[in-house]
Amino acid sequence: MKEYENRYPFLNACYRQPTKYTPIWLMRQAGRYLKEYRALRKKFSFLEMCKNPELAAKVTLLPVEKFRVDAAIIFSDILLPLEPMGIELEFRKSEGPVIHHPIREIKQIDGLRIIDPDEDLHFLMEAIRIVRRELEGRIPLIGFSGAPFTLASYIIEGGHSKNYILTKGLMYQNRSAWGKLMEKISEVLIRYLNAQIRSGVQALQLFDSWVGCLSPSDYEEYVLPYSKKVIDGVGKIVPLIHFATSSSSLLQLMKRAGGDVIGVDWRVDLAEVWAHLGYDVAIQGNLDPVILLSSPNLIEKEVIRILKDAGKRPGHIFNLGHGILPNTPVDHVTALVEAVHQYSSLSANRQGVD
Ligand code: CP3
Repeated sequence: MKEYENRYPFLNACYRQPTKYTPIWLMRQAGRYLKEYRALRKKFSFLEMCKNPELAAKVTLLPVEKFRVDAAIIFSDILLPLEPMGIELEFRKSEGPVIHHPIREIKQIDGLRIIDPDEDLHFLMEAIRIVRRELEGRIPLIGFSGAPFTLASYIIEGGHSKNYILTKGLMYQNRSAWGKLMEKISEVLIRYLNAQIRSGVQALQLFDSWVGCLSPSDYEEYVLPYSKKVIDGVGKIVPLIHFATSSSSLLQLMKRAGGDVIGVDWRVDLAEVWAHLGYDVAIQGNLDPVILLSSPNLIEKEVIRILKDAGKRPGHIFNLGHGILPNTPVDHVTALVEAVHQYSSLSANRQGVD
């Protein structure tokens, strides 16, 4: 028996143990839809905020103070480990992340550094320690990283991409360069995620946000072995959520790569997907973030529908299908969290709970 059994609904749900209500947290819960975040951003750049442990801890805790979310997620970004690898990174106002000198040749791949996360990303490890102290055991803290494919796509394309032509180009046409890059990223991620566990995170989420651009056979051949290596490399010390968007055709393969929880977006029917994946894995999702812009009534209706899809089975973590949008009204987030807690605890005879 784990020490936190029955203490944290979020961790219990990750392990498919019964909970009194369905736990909820939201991807990008600390972000621009919060006026306190926007006020801080007037004074600091995004990277400055990530690299200042006190500020990163403060931002992590903003949604925890505002909403009754069942987990916190450390304020950082999937792209931060790229800098100490030797990749120059910039967050531009309207464009999002930009990588200078994208990596496209074997010579550049050879030059990438394997990081020492405790040293190179000391600010993040310190932020994790501060948040754990401040949380005083109220709710668990989630750490995260990008998955190898999603990080490779940024490194190769230099930013977000529509068709992933350069990424796929390297993958198809230079197999050994692709293997070398994915090996290096995987090694970095294993070190990075283990360092987060040592610093105090109690769960992990692996974001493979853009892997949905691949066919199942390409995923199996070019991605699965590396994602599996990363997941195996963090052991089973804390539960891991394996998340991707537009991934309906890849979910079985993602399950094979690993993870205690599979995160899905709104493009899939949660009931259907869970039945298809099997009930030996937990599921996270899957409200369309755009619903949060509508009205408390519609939000409530969607909550009831998604809870029905999950069928009162242990192992459902409520979340959005992707990150919360910047123009989301804060009172709609309150309404969402309350509705999930209320309707899931009202729903009589949850499986496994007396
Ligand atoms: O969930 C959380 O609250 C924790 C913090 C977090 C951020 N990024 C903060 C952030 C997490 C978990 C991420 C993950 C991330 N970052 C992903 C995977 C999740 C997803 O959305 O698919 C990706 C692909 C990135 C890369 C990234 N970072 C992009 C594409 C952008 C620009 C788009 C945008 O939303 O602005 C960022 C910037 C970013 N990361 C912001 C925040 C709060 C906005 C920065 C700002 O301008 O203030």
